[in-house]
Amino acid sequence: MAKTYKIGTIPGDGTGPEVVREGLKVLNAAAAQGGFKFEFTEFDFGAARYLKTGETLPDSAIGAFRKFDSLFLGAIGHPDVKPGILEAGILLKIRFALDQYINLRPVKLYPNVETPLKDKGPEDIDFVVIRENTGGIYTGHGGATRVGTTEEIATQLMVYDRRTVDRCLKYAFELKRKRNAMNPKYAAKPITLIHKRNVLTHCGDLWYRAFEEMGSKHYPELKRDYNHVDAANMWFVKNPEWFDVIVTDNMFGDIITDLGSMVQGGMGIAAGGNINPQGTSMFEPIGGSAPKYTGKSVINPLAAICAGQMMLDFLGEAAAARAIETAVIKITREKIKSLAAGKMGYTTSEVGDLVAAALE
Ligand code: IPM
Ligand code: MN
Repeated sequence: MAKTYKIGTIPGDGTGPEVVREGLKVLNAAAAQGGFKFEFTEFDFGAARYLKTGETLPDSAIGAFRKFDSLFLGAIGHPDVKPGILEAGILLKIRFALDQYINLRPVKLYPNVETPLKDKGPEDIDFVVIRENTGGIYTGHGGATRVGTTEEIATQLMVYDRRTVDRCLKYAFELKRKRNAMNPKYAAKPITLIHKRNVLTHCGDLWYRAFEEMGSKHYPELKRDYNHVDAANMWFVKNPEWFDVIVTDNMFGDIITDLGSMVQGGMGIAAGGNINPQGTSMFEPIGGSAPKYTGKSVINPLAAICAGQMMLDFLGEAAAARAIETAVIKITREKIKSLAAGKMGYTTSEVGDLVAAALE
């Protein structure tokens, strides 16, 4: 009997459902070719449900999610809902409750895709950011007093413990070892820790010492490098070819991967995975719900399709994952005019059809 993967889908808000539909279309086509199957179960968490019922994500959903091989998310966020409610109540709740402690965000420029970086091409832009996904400022430690007065005080703390840092670093070092074995071009580059240890002397020091200790003790063959996050922004633009595997704190990772997305051709193609190597992971396009494009069939589904590719890779279907990447490269090279919404030369669903048809 064909292997069947059980996937929970959360299409979510705005353009989320439109891009998830194309992601699933391509996943089903890849499965048919690869001789395996998907069983998708859709969940309606998002703004519409919240506005109707006041519920974001009940605890029972977390239990239900654990039974899936993986989750596939569209987008969360809606102009009628105050910022923070859906983000914390759904997206961050899933990441934390399922302990998806790695946020893996590849930054790879495909041939014929336009980058805003002058004189840089696919050979220069091919790295991956490992963003720690459960700690730091995102934990919500802190608070506010005297709110609304002129003496208002607010704090939001950067929280890290050695275990959380170590498990993230271990994932990064292991990935670097794998990439070095794959390609001598990667092997020539270091693994880079990004932080701000010249100012964040407590958390930065914890990350730096843990990085140096683990690297020298268990991965002595891997070259290590360190960048302050402000400088890293500069190098992303000036010398992206210096980077291969980057590991960083939650908030810094959030910020630099939006820059990374632009460098690789925009939100239309940027995908990420929220990974718990021992549990249920969740794959998603990095871009948001894009309210102004909702329902117009102009949003680019390639980011969702690439999230599907990452999910296949994670599930162990490496050949099917490669087939999707090859198809995406083919249609970005030969068909799609621009990766920007409304400028693709095709509708959202036509782009899904093109990728599905290009699978071989
Ligand atoms: C991301 C997003 C989220 C984050 C928001 C929507 C909470 O920006 O996935 O990068 O900050 O992690
Ligand atoms: Mn972000």
